[in-house]
Amino acid sequence: MNNHYECIEASITGKLGLINLNRPKVLNAINRQMVSDILSVMEDFDENDQVRVIVLCGNGRAFAAGADIDEMAADDAIDFELRNQFKDWDRLARIKKPIIGAVQGFALGGGFELALCCDLLLAADDAEFGFPEVNLGVMPGAGGTQRLTKLVGKTKAMEWLFTGKRIGALDALQFGIINRIVAKEVLMEETLKFAGEVANQAPLSIRLIKESVLKAVDVSLDEGMQFERKNFYLLFSTEDQKEGMSAFQEKRKANFKGK
Ligand code: CAA
Repeated sequence: MNNHYECIEASITGKLGLINLNRPKVLNAINRQMVSDILSVMEDFDENDQVRVIVLCGNGRAFAAGADIDEMAADDAIDFELRNQFKDWDRLARIKKPIIGAVQGFALGGGFELALCCDLLLAADDAEFGFPEVNLGVMPGAGGTQRLTKLVGKTKAMEWLFTGKRIGALDALQFGIINRIVAKEVLMEETLKFAGEVANQAPLSIRLIKESVLKAVDVSLDEGMQFERKNFYLLFSTEDQKEGMSAFQEKRKANFKGK
């Protein structure tokens, strides 16, 4: 793995692939290089058998305070179109392994969008989410209006997007945006523990559960049920299904291999 990235730090610890957003002087503002770095590492992790769960966090006092305003302030619509500005974000939606985010401080604009791309989120008690784009005369462009609405419904999504108002950790928990609030000092410890639990599950189960749950967000119940069923069948062709069920019958702990 290439360990030298301009805007992030990446490492592997046991079964976890860690990505740390690393532009703390600008509160991890997300420039194009950072998105490209994140995707390059995530795709490596996705193909690496050692890695079972990806953990995403931010260095310094923020998760990420949004897209880099300085980088885009002078852009026009055609610059975005020609550059296909959000192509790396589309790749992010195709990562197969679970992504667990650890949010401390600000997760605003593109930072909130990045958090919404995670499958599970832990947040420190000081976490603040929000879409302040409206204050800049723009709007979210990396999925914010879509993912937030699908998650919390139209009413709160409109309110938060119209006002740019920040959402504290407690509200985020109440509206199902995050899984857990933990004290800031133990955010990483708790996130790694949580990620470790997921990493010990049968990897192919986790992979197909992720695919099926994400499918549910987009399709009718009937279509989703058909999709789920095929994935359920598929798991019966894995060694881990035989191992998991034998372990149950033999009253021992299963040892999953991801095959
Ligand atoms: N882009 C570029 N630089 C940023 C940034 C951003 N999104 N957010 C913070 N910074 C920089 C600041 O300019 C400042 O740099 P200098 O020290 O060189 O002045 C540094 O980070 C520290 O920030 P502040 O001094 O402003 O810190 P603060 O604690 O007073 O305020 C804040 C924190 C409320 C998050 C404030 O920085 C802020 O409002 N940031 C912008 C948030 C925002 O509007 N995000 C949406 C961006 S648009 C977007 O994301 C579009 C999309 O959908 C893809």
